[in-house]
Amino acid sequence: MGKPIEQIKNEALKALDAASDVEGIKALSSHYLGRKGLVTHFLRNISALPLEKRSAVGKKANEIKKELDKAFQAALIQLQTRVYPAGGRIDVSLPGRTATPGSLHPITQINEEICDIFTGLGFDIAEGPEVETDFYNFEALNIPKDHPARDMQDTFYVSDNIVLRTHTSPVQIRTMENQPPPVRVIVPGKVFRRDSDLTHTPMFHQVEGLLVDENVSFGDLKGTLTTFVHQMFDDRTSLRFRPSFFPFTEPSAEVDILCVMCRGKGCRVCSQTGWLEVLGSGMVHPALFEQVEYDPDRYTGFAFGMGVERIAMLKYGIDDIRKFFENDFRFLAQF
Ligand code: DAH
Repeated sequence: MGKPIEQIKNEALKALDAASDVEGIKALSSHYLGRKGLVTHFLRNISALPLEKRSAVGKKANEIKKELDKAFQAALIQLQTRVYPAGGRIDVSLPGRTATPGSLHPITQINEEICDIFTGLGFDIAEGPEVETDFYNFEALNIPKDHPARDMQDTFYVSDNIVLRTHTSPVQIRTMENQPPPVRVIVPGKVFRRDSDLTHTPMFHQVEGLLVDENVSFGDLKGTLTTFVHQMFDDRTSLRFRPSFFPFTEPSAEVDILCVMCRGKGCRVCSQTGWLEVLGSGMVHPALFEQVEYDPDRYTGFAFGMGVERIAMLKYGIDDIRKFFENDFRFLAQF
């Protein structure tokens, strides 16, 4: 029959005492209690004993089997809680995980920079809804239902009369409705258009500007935007006002800046023209003043609107607008 079961037990416990790691304990457990283990073997051979001894020895052997099993389990748990607190494995030799500090999104940074420049010039910040009525987004800005200017600003319609705003200009009307002149605001915010390519995304950001007072002239518009461009880029970045058309301004002008890449020589970025278009502007159309019950004989004003992504792309030399919204950490971490 081999060794008595008591002896097997004592040897097992002694070996367990000496075991210092999980692998060692598992090996012992299998050596004693596994399919070919000593205790298993003992139990299997009980039938070879004389009949009168079988019951007592069998009972004892089963108790010992349970006892050893418990002892192995307890030793394993003790070892795991000591070396692996809370059950998790800790390898103290691994380098620590550094917490990478986050940073503001480049569009947020440029947006803040634009707002800082204009608040420095005395403008207040105004905001308006992104889901807008057809009236504020188009009608009140002198863009009636069948006006061709709507073609360039196709958008997402929530219903016939509710749209995702295509520009921040509706906030011009909302602001003037709510206060008498003088008005001096800039309006940062998200806008939406049915557009998607290298330079257009269906959602982008604009900053609108509106100034209304007595005796405001086109010269004030030029001075304000020149100061802005010089602060945003540098003093050498000259501006060019090109006649243009917007239904809500008269006269209207598009503003180009000297190409920040080639300084006017002509390159790929400026399509060899030496100039880059950065914003739309003009003198507030009297129809808007009538809409908000400002006296058009007494007040004049200027307005402008610019795309934040466009400014950011020029400032950082980025050629694909979609990079801003792909959330690729390798891109975002550079700002
Ligand atoms: N809202 C125009 C656009 O999104 C930009 C614009 C042009 C705004 C002229 C103005 C302005 O305030 O005076 O295309």
